[in-house]
Amino acid sequence: MFKKCMGGMSVLSALVMIGAVADAAPKERLTFTKDIMPIFQENCVRCHRAGGDNISGMVAPMSLETFQEVRPWAKAIAKVVSSKKMPPWFADEKTHGVFSNERGLTDQEIGVVVSWTQTGAVRGNPKDAPAPVIFQSSNGWLTGEPDLIVRMPEPYFVADDVEDLYVDFVTEPLTDEQLPETVWLRSIEWRGDSDVVHHIVGAASIDGEKGESGLPTRYSLGSIAPGEEGTNYPEGYGLLLRKGSRIHFNMHYHKEPGAGSGQFDQSMVGFRFWDKNKDPEITHPVERSKIMNTSFEIPPGQPNWEVGASKTFNVGTTILSLHPHMHMRGKDAEYIAFYPDGTQETLVTVPNYDFNWQLDYFYNEPKRVPAGTRVEFTVHYDNSADNEYNPDHTIPMGWGNPTTSEMMIGYISYTNTEPLAPSEGPNDF
Ligand code: HEC
Repeated sequence: MFKKCMGGMSVLSALVMIGAVADAAPKERLTFTKDIMPIFQENCVRCHRAGGDNISGMVAPMSLETFQEVRPWAKAIAKVVSSKKMPPWFADEKTHGVFSNERGLTDQEIGVVVSWTQTGAVRGNPKDAPAPVIFQSSNGWLTGEPDLIVRMPEPYFVADDVEDLYVDFVTEPLTDEQLPETVWLRSIEWRGDSDVVHHIVGAASIDGEKGESGLPTRYSLGSIAPGEEGTNYPEGYGLLLRKGSRIHFNMHYHKEPGAGSGQFDQSMVGFRFWDKNKDPEITHPVERSKIMNTSFEIPPGQPNWEVGASKTFNVGTTILSLHPHMHMRGKDAEYIAFYPDGTQETLVTVPNYDFNWQLDYFYNEPKRVPAGTRVEFTVHYDNSADNEYNPDHTIPMGWGNPTTSEMMIGYISYTNTEPLAPSEGPNDF
């Protein structure tokens, strides 16, 4: 409607008209300083500012702190907030309020932003503006200043001809100076050192330790993929990092190959520790597992191919977070809990999975499930030409390391529901 009556008008008369409309209803007129800034401070500027959150390579392209910065983007902003593309969040609305890292505007806030852009996107009185947000500097660490930073043993050159490359690095055992004693981790944050890092899967190992299979044991220390932040554990929860551990960096580099595209990388991980003397005891050691299926094949051209996998918990378990992982044909993902009494509950549905924003859905209130609960992880792939990210819709596709192949992993972080008693010794090493 609005667009239609603008047709053929000069810019000047259009502006006059907007002015007239606004004057007729002065109370309704929304302004940047009064109505928009508070919404943006709460929902946008954490990423949209100079030096904003770098979520494993996803860096917001512009700052949205001041009127001058925002005004040229008004039209684009109306579009991305009404389509709910921004702020980025991918779980469906049924889990509204369930996850601590949820982002989103209310319908009312979307309405305010859109009508502000449609009524001239004016500045308003500078006196109405809220105080600017002060961001705590943590040298770019989203989880806070680390107690220990461990880097890959040396810089690695990701050569010009590389498109996808999987390569493992392992450090020397941590020295007494780096880690004088075994600790419980309160946060873990893997950080790419260059923009060719696609993801990092991290682990620790102790020399000489072998699992049942005879292979060296590796303890998962989480991972980071595009769009994912670091992990903070609540009080009483932690992941063990043992004295003398080696740290493994399972790197996936991805870039457009070509002359001059090569880059050095020396990615790192930042750990924060619980303080044995000051912080509450650890009663919930955290584990992270993969619910996965590696033996699927998506036929060429298939727009909606389903693949499933499941895991059963034999003791009462508390789930901390869920994290679907697929590659470019990934379309949607869902975790459903099937309880021993025959009922079921959807834990999370991600209807529009986006390869660039792979989030850990972290519970506000950790989710308790009784012994015997089976968690099913179900995903769909779009291997058709309609999927704009599909690198090749003419071939069947199954499990494989390169981003151009597929993966099917439902990460799940969890712990025992019954707290370990101090006598069980989780805090004595
Ligand atoms: C978690 C970090 C984050 C938050 C929060 C966030 N953005 Fe973004 N935004 C990004 C990144 C990264 C991009 C560029 C990549 C993309 O488009 O996915 C982007 C892109 C955009 C674009 C498109 C720019 C273009 O080139 O077309 C607009 C407009 C935008 N954001 C507005 C907003 C607004 C308005 C909010 C708050 C309501 C917001 N964003 C919240 C990270 C964020």
